[in-house]
Amino acid sequence: MKYSILFFTLILSTILFISCSDLKEDVITSAPKLSVHESGIVNPSSPNFHGNLIKNADWDMKQCQQCHSASYTGGTAGASCYDCHTTPAGPEACNTCHGDFANPSSIAPPRALNGAILSSERGVGAHTKHLTTNQLGTAVSCNECHTLPNGFSDPAHIDLTPGAEIMFGSLTRLSTNVPGGFNYQPSIGNFIPNPSFDKTNGTCANVYCHGYFKNGNLSNVVSFTSQSLGSVCGTCHGNVATGNPLPVTFANGGTHPDNQNCDFCHFDVVSIDSTTTQIYTIIDKNKHINGKLNVFGNEETY
Ligand code: HEC
Ligand code: HEC
Ligand code: HEC
Ligand code: HEC
Ligand code: HEC
Ligand code: HEC
Repeated sequence: MKYSILFFTLILSTILFISCSDLKEDVITSAPKLSVHESGIVNPSSPNFHGNLIKNADWDMKQCQQCHSASYTGGTAGASCYDCHTTPAGPEACNTCHGDFANPSSIAPPRALNGAILSSERGVGAHTKHLTTNQLGTAVSCNECHTLPNGFSDPAHIDLTPGAEIMFGSLTRLSTNVPGGFNYQPSIGNFIPNPSFDKTNGTCANVYCHGYFKNGNLSNVVSFTSQSLGSVCGTCHGNVATGNPLPVTFANGGTHPDNQNCDFCHFDVVSIDSTTTQIYTIIDKNKHINGKLNVFGNEETY
């Protein structure tokens, strides 16, 4: 026992001696590494964090590529962005700057460019309601509101006007009740939406999805940051104040029947809870706000 302790002590001191001399040699042969960046380059809470440097340079990453190489794999800097940005597109992956940094398939806000996650912030707004937590219809494609860039360096992606560009897609412009359509009435004509986005107020107007169709609420203006939908059926068609979704009827200058029993004619879309008064449930989200009029079990494509 005594001897084995002595033996191990001896081995240990030999190891220590060898490593100390290794260390000394290192100190002598290599000069301290020069850093081109101020301290904090990898600390997200530092003003010198590399994300902030990029943001402050109008999101230009070409300057970084000069040293870290065009492919971001190290270059003369000898430090690869892929050490941390591990997905195939590296730092140019969409979720580096938008959506969830930890989930490459989650590329829309929340998390806006300024870090905001609240829906009351313009860069966040109603994205989730249109993309994942939809209550009234199915998920809306990004292309209904933006032209999705074809990669980070697509010239259409980043410009010097702050904020995102809104470019409306085909569903928002859908013209219902066209000549030849099932319910077309020449005396009413058809409704051709001309969607617009008010950059100052953050509101949308004249979109098909929010009421720009025959007997709908043509003058409905919706806010991206403060709209409460889901409980209010009357916002896009019907009565905004009471929430009654009945579109404009004959009696009021429209062409819709004056009949509250939606489930009688739109039975594949909606059900009414008859024990309580007028509680409507969308029973098939694929058939509501889908660009088609669903009536008497038929889907009418305009
Ligand atoms: C002039 C050359 C040069 C430029 C330009 C440059 N870097 Fe670096 N970078 C380096 C060098 C050298 C290192 C390694 C030494 C150090 O940490 O400074 C480094 C390290 C880093 C690190 C730390 C890597 C790690 O694993 O710890 C990050 C992050 C980084 N750079 C990001 C950037 C970003 C983002 C840009 C563009 C805004 C950029 N760099 C521009 C030379 C450069
Ligand atoms: C040591 C790990 C590490 C390295 C190396 C690294 N990054 Fe990052 N980077 C991060 C982390 C972590 C975040 C997210 C921080 C946060 O939002 O909390 C980030 C965020 C970013 C952002 C988003 C900025 C924003 O505000 O949305 C960009 C752009 C970026 N990095 C580019 C680069 C580039 C270019 C390189 C290589 C030159 C690089 N990164 C190297 C860890 C790293
Ligand atoms: C390094 C950060 C960064 C990365 C990576 C990035 N973006 Fe962006 N993105 C921005 C900035 C900054 C804006 C605001 C553009 C402006 O002000 O014109 C923006 C705006 C957008 C918009 C709003 C519409 C527009 O053009 O203004 C969409 C949509 C978008 N990005 C999608 C993507 C997609 C898809 C990817 C991946 C292919 C991606 N982004 C990668 C920084 C980034
Ligand atoms: C219903 C319309 C709509 C849909 C669908 C939509 N967006 Fe947006 N998006 C907006 C509006 C409105 C803004 C805010 C514009 C502004 O800043 O004035 C915005 C802003 C953005 C921004 C910039 C956020 C910031 O930080 O400023 C990005 C990035 C973006 N959207 C990406 C996406 C992506 C990716 C999708 C699909 C996965 C998507 N959006 C779907 C309407 C939409
Ligand atoms: C975001 C706007 C919006 C809201 C809110 C809304 N709808 Fe609709 N609704 C539409 C659109 C768009 C159509 C299709 C109109 C067309 O193509 O002529 C539609 C059509 C309908 C139809 C006709 C059948 C069909 O789908 O073609 C019924 C019934 C209906 N909605 C019931 C409801 C009920 C019940 C609620 C509340 C739970 C509601 N709607 C809330 C936009 C809305
Ligand atoms: C008696 C059958 C009937 C009942 C009941 C009925 N609808 Fe309709 N609905 C129709 C017909 C027919 C159309 C096509 C009307 C047209 O284009 O002139 C229509 C169209 C619609 C549209 C598309 C806009 C339009 O008028 O073309 C919406 C939205 C709608 N109905 C909602 C409702 C809601 C909500 C209820 C219940 C409150 C309801 N409907 C009850 C027959 C009915």
